[in-house]
Amino acid sequence: MARRGAASVVWRAKGGLIKPHFTIEDLTATDSARIEEAARLLHAAFSPLGVWTTVAEARQEVVESVSADRVSRVARPTEGPIIGWIGAIREYDGLVWQLHPIVVDEAQRRRGVGRALVLDLEAILTARGGLTLWAGSDDLAGETSLGGVDLYSALPGAFGAVRSWGHHPLPFYHRLGFQVIGVMPDANGPGRPDIFLGKRLGALDRSTHVTTTPAPTRRPRH
Ligand SMILES: CC(C)(COP(=O)(O)OP(=O)(O)OC[C@H]1O[C@@H](n2cnc3c(N)ncnc32)[C@H](O)[C@@H]1OP(=O)(O)O)[C@@H](O)C(=O)NCCC(=O)NCCS
Repeated sequence: MARRGAASVVWRAKGGLIKPHFTIEDLTATDSARIEEAARLLHAAFSPLGVWTTVAEARQEVVESVSADRVSRVARPTEGPIIGWIGAIREYDGLVWQLHPIVVDEAQRRRGVGRALVLDLEAILTARGGLTLWAGSDDLAGETSLGGVDLYSALPGAFGAVRSWGHHPLPFYHRLGFQVIGVMPDANGPGRPDIFLGKRLGALDRSTHVTTTPAPTRRPRH
């Protein structure tokens, strides 16, 4: 498959003793080594939570990410295996994109790799005319204030101040400008919701975005 998206971009991870430079580039269908590395990252991060419990399932997810209606990008250091992978799925005729999924090698976390992957993705999607980027972030382990409660009686108040703890990635999304835009109660079983986070892409001219057409004047029927 032909390469899609922007050219590869060089980034420098922050902090730590080692500061690897890495490029962010398209994952291609023919790059079986990178596909395998991405599958192993996905499996390592999510299998303890009961998702992508085998490398084969994770590999299938990675393979599916390399298609015309998706974006699939990897963070690749100057040497060694990839240290991060991000994907996005085109929705609503390309006005909305779902970030799915994102994973960074555990040994490389909290050094800016995840942020670089999201910013790179945002630039690509903005250039394609995307307006909204969203992600579903499951609460599988009771690590947010939306987990373990009956959301049908708690909403909309529960949206007021969503908190998280443990390893939940909510703070990561918040740091990158996402906000909670919805929640699917019991998506993973009772009290285990999927939390929807979204952000506006690019510098949007609000005046062109939020104007509404006045409803036509209705004539009385008789
Ligand atoms: C979520 C994940 C991709 C973040 O990647 P990362 O490379 O560690 O993120 P970054 O270092 O770029 O962090 C960006 C910002 O978020 C903050 N952040 C990242 N993870 C955080 C966490 N768990 N708790 C609090 N803050 C966090 C960072 O401190 C940084 O803040 P800054 O603005 O002050 O610099 C990574 O932890 C991961 O792969 N987790 C497992 C898979 C996963 O949960 N994916 C998301 C599924 S919805």
